[in-house]
Amino acid sequence: MKVIEKTAEISACSRELHLRGEAIGLVPTMGFLHDGHLSLIRESKRITGKTAVSIFVNPAQFGPKEDYHRYPRDIEGDAKKCRETEVDLLFLPSVEDIYPEGHRTYVDVEGLNDKLCGRSRPKHFRGVATIVTKLFNIIMPDKAFFGQKDYQQAMIIKRLATDLNFGVDIIVMPTIREADGLAMSSRNSYLNSNERVAARILYRSLMLAEDMIRSGEVTSGEVRAKMEGLIAGEGSSKIEYISISDPGNLEDIETIAGDVLVAIAVWIGKTRLIDNIIIKGDKR
Ligand code: PAF
Repeated sequence: MKVIEKTAEISACSRELHLRGEAIGLVPTMGFLHDGHLSLIRESKRITGKTAVSIFVNPAQFGPKEDYHRYPRDIEGDAKKCRETEVDLLFLPSVEDIYPEGHRTYVDVEGLNDKLCGRSRPKHFRGVATIVTKLFNIIMPDKAFFGQKDYQQAMIIKRLATDLNFGVDIIVMPTIREADGLAMSSRNSYLNSNERVAARILYRSLMLAEDMIRSGEVTSGEVRAKMEGLIAGEGSSKIEYISISDPGNLEDIETIAGDVLVAIAVWIGKTRLIDNIIIKGDKR
């Protein structure tokens, strides 16, 4: 595994691989790798010739009061996991290399960036879209891999890859969960043992929604109310949003008919967690 810190160096390396006819898969991450990331790496290895993983805690996607400085970091542990999964290139750029003095250009995906998580994190998706655009330009991957846990992020990245003619195939892989259903996330490491138990409420509430919808409930308000009731029963939790929307455009749905995205953001103590499921219309 080649470990590369400079943007110019990884671009040169990537160009050389392309000249040799290799297809490159990119797994962009902010590190503190867990099984969710490893599933993306494995898929990249399965369907592309060479796999690059980037680890960069991107300051542009954190709000001023968010957890940029305390975001978990473990470069040595991550490098070990990358070596074990036979990653070819590990890219560890510095903030100065990605956002040099004078950087002024950002990418905004309008109409998708202001819904769900975008309501409380106004510049978050601008930061995500900008770093992903930069990584695509720097590494020039053929395919890039993202998890469904960040469904809105994945949609925004698909949109930007199309709108900016990147020709990068965006692959979205299923959410990887702990045995009790909690979606894997680097931020789960913030939870103490009581909060870890409380955090199960996210998946339980999504399962409740799925049961209701599969049993014929078509009124979103009813589903949301039952989910709210369940989550409210969990003392240390606070709902930020429960959204029942069209998975194609994230527009709210009042009456459930076809495919539906149920997405939530819930605070467990001081930790904000998100999760979602898609319930297919043709399977009801
Ligand atoms: O999902 C993440 O870890 C980040 O948002 C991403 C896509 C690596 C961009 O910083």
